[in-house]
This record gives sequence, C-alpha cells and structure tokens, in this order.
Amino acid sequence: MNNAVAGFSKLSKKEKINWIANTYFSTPEEALTIIRNYWNSDEKLQQLHDEFIENTITNLYIPLGVAPNFLINGEYKTIPMAIEESSVVAAASKAAKYWSTRGGFKATVIDTEKIGQVHFTFNGDAEKLHSFFDQIKPKFFSETQSITKNMQQRGGGILDIKLKDKRSLLENYFQLHATFETKDSMGANFINSCLEQFATTLKDEFQNSDLFSEDESVKVIMSILSNYVPNCIVRAEVSCPIEDLTEKHIPNPQEFAERFLQAVQIAEVEPFRAVTHNKGIMNGVDAVILATGNDFRAVEAGVHAYASKNGQYASLSHAKIEDGIFTFWLEIPLALGTVGGLTSLHPLVKLCFDILEKPSAQELMQIVAVAGLAQNFAALRSLTTTGIQEGHMKMHLNNIINQFEATDDERHLIKSHFKKNAVSHSAVVEFIENLRK
Ligand code: MEV
Repeated sequence: MNNAVAGFSKLSKKEKINWIANTYFSTPEEALTIIRNYWNSDEKLQQLHDEFIENTITNLYIPLGVAPNFLINGEYKTIPMAIEESSVVAAASKAAKYWSTRGGFKATVIDTEKIGQVHFTFNGDAEKLHSFFDQIKPKFFSETQSITKNMQQRGGGILDIKLKDKRSLLENYFQLHATFETKDSMGANFINSCLEQFATTLKDEFQNSDLFSEDESVKVIMSILSNYVPNCIVRAEVSCPIEDLTEKHIPNPQEFAERFLQAVQIAEVEPFRAVTHNKGIMNGVDAVILATGNDFRAVEAGVHAYASKNGQYASLSHAKIEDGIFTFWLEIPLALGTVGGLTSLHPLVKLCFDILEKPSAQELMQIVAVAGLAQNFAALRSLTTTGIQEGHMKMHLNNIINQFEATDDERHLIKSHFKKNAVSHSAVVEFIENLRK
C-alpha cells in the first residue's frame, strides 16, 4: 500500500489519529479504542506528554520497577528501573543483596569532561591558520560569555579549545575541538550553543583577518557535541575474599571465582561474546537512564564506542583474582544530567529522583554504573552455574499467562504446575490448551 500523506504535522491530534485508524485498520474503531486506552485521563498530564515529541498519538508504557538494597559507597539505595524485559529487575535486586553482605559496591567518578567540535574546511596555509587560531582563541571565550555565565557560576564552563588538523583523514578538514564541564546538566544545549557561537566567531574573525590571501577560505560544515566522552568516566567495583564468594550451585568458591573470571576473559577477547556481555550491562544501565529521563541513545552510542577503544569491541567489565581476593569492576563513559531536560518535566522522572534522594550528576553516574555491574554479575553468575533459561523462563511464564488472558483459577493452576516442571513456551501453551479442553 502506498500511504503518503501531505501536511500531516498540521493536522490536529484527533485528525492524525483518525488518519492512522482509517488508513491502517479494517476496523478503525478498534484501533481508536487501543490508542485512547493509553491516554492519561488527566488532560493536563496527557498534554505534557503530547508535547514532549511531535505527532503524538498516545503513550507506550514501559514498566517502572525498583531494585532495593544496593549498598553503594556505604549507603543503601533503592534503584528505579524502567525496562520491559522480565528478569532484569529481579537479577539486579539479587545481585544487590548478594554484595550487600560482602562489602557492597564502590563507585568513583574518574572524570567529567564533555566534548564538542566545530568541523570545518580550510584550503590554505595551515601554519597561518594555527597562528590565526592562537590570536583569536580568547574571542571564543569572550563571545560566549552570555551563554557560559550561568554555567560558570555553577562551577562549569568551557575548559579548552584546540585547533586540530585532520587533513590526513579528509582533504582540507580541520576542527575546533572543545572540552566542557557541565556540572549537573548533561550539557547538550549548552555545548551546542557554545559551538555554534565558536563557528560564528571563526567565520567573522576569518573575514576580518588580513593574514590570509583572497584564495584562502574557511567553510564551517557543522557544529555539534560528541556523544563519545572517553574522559567522562565512572568506575564501579565489587570485591571480597575468595572464600566469601559462596554460590549454592558451585560449593567451592575458588572454582566459582575461576569460572566467573574465565567468563569475563572470554568477553575481553571475543567480540561475539563481548556484545552480549555488554548488552547485559546495558540492561542495568539503560533501565536507570530511562527512569531518570536521560538520553539512552547517547549513552549507548558512547558506551559501545568506548568498548572498541583499543581497536576491537571488548568487554566493558573486568575481573581478577589476586592474593585471595576476587575483584570485579567496570569503567564506562556516562554523560548524564540531574537538572534540565525531562528531569524537571516528567512527574515520574521527578519521583525517581526522589527515590534516589536527589543525586548530583556524579552520584547518578555512580548509581548507573553500579546497576550495570550488578546486572553483569547476575548474568555471569547464572550463565556459569545454572544457565539463564531456568530463571528467565519462570519470569517469562507471566508473559505467556497474560498473552493467553488466563483467568485467576487458570493462573493458579499454571503457576503451581510449573513450580515443579520445566518452563518452555510450548509446554505452557500445551498445558493451557489442555486446561481449556
Ligand atoms: C539478556 O538480556 C542479557 C544476557 O544475555 C547477558 C549476558 O549474556 O551476559 C543474559
């Protein structure tokens, strides 16, 4: 079907929904009912959500759960997690409880530097460009004063601006490579505004400079922050004496520690495993990022780039056994905000910040990294002992029961049957079908 539409953005919400229902559904009323069922009955609240994006027709719910008992740097935290995948919150809670009696999680912010670039071309004498840059560098700071004033009051601002010659990569390609400190905000707007002003300053100063000949020119291609933030890093760690690393399926803690270590080492050298291993880490990371209204696409892009920083995609977490101590840790880049954006707009995001006791951006970095490490620990613990399917399928049982719209009585019978029997999709379906015969 060829369903192009002109002027869609100008239609009212009602008209947009009607167009969708009438164009894609043989029974438009049914589609309309589903769409409306997910509207919030509080019109103001619905309007708030409508205005987060464009062409909103309804809301897609993602469950918001909590994982309690996270002992982080000596304080207990309850971590809110927004995620649709079963088992993730249970795994986080289990890992939290496990480490709470073994010293808890230690988290440290290593650095908080953000990056932005003005990409431009210059077709002349590079030495002249370098001395021109040195001359005008103070102007980049003075002409962004109105943008940086507030940020400076909060202790942030532009850290440095460098001219980079990138002609070995692309003809005439240069950059202004700037670094920023954005304190409790993620800083995207601040950085991009500074960069666009740098671009204007660069063009204006170039025009007014008498250093260059008629044939030499500067062309700004684009100005944008980088979501790769290898100097905005947080480390999360757990450690304990080997004998404390008890695990009911492998009674010898040394054996469990060694098997766990090998599982990490495999992810350090084998990209196919590393991707899945890191996906498990991101189960924890993304769930907290989403619950706190941060940009999970930015975090995902940056984290995976960091995982490839040595030229091959590798595990973000590491483990060692040294002097009878087992240590497991990860380091990830996280550019997060606890002010601005959705953080002050979305009532549930605000609620999550209250549950986390209003963390600073650095505290949130620590919490997110810990959630990632906990998730990774839980996954590797299952994988190296029972395998993940046992626990996973138990959780998945609920999804299958819901899919079949089981009655309360059926639900009870199914659950007690599968307490004693292995869960598989086909086994559950067969059981339900037999029940209903
Ligand atoms: C599933 O969402 C995540 C895992 O595959 C992670 C892993 O394999 O380490 C269990």
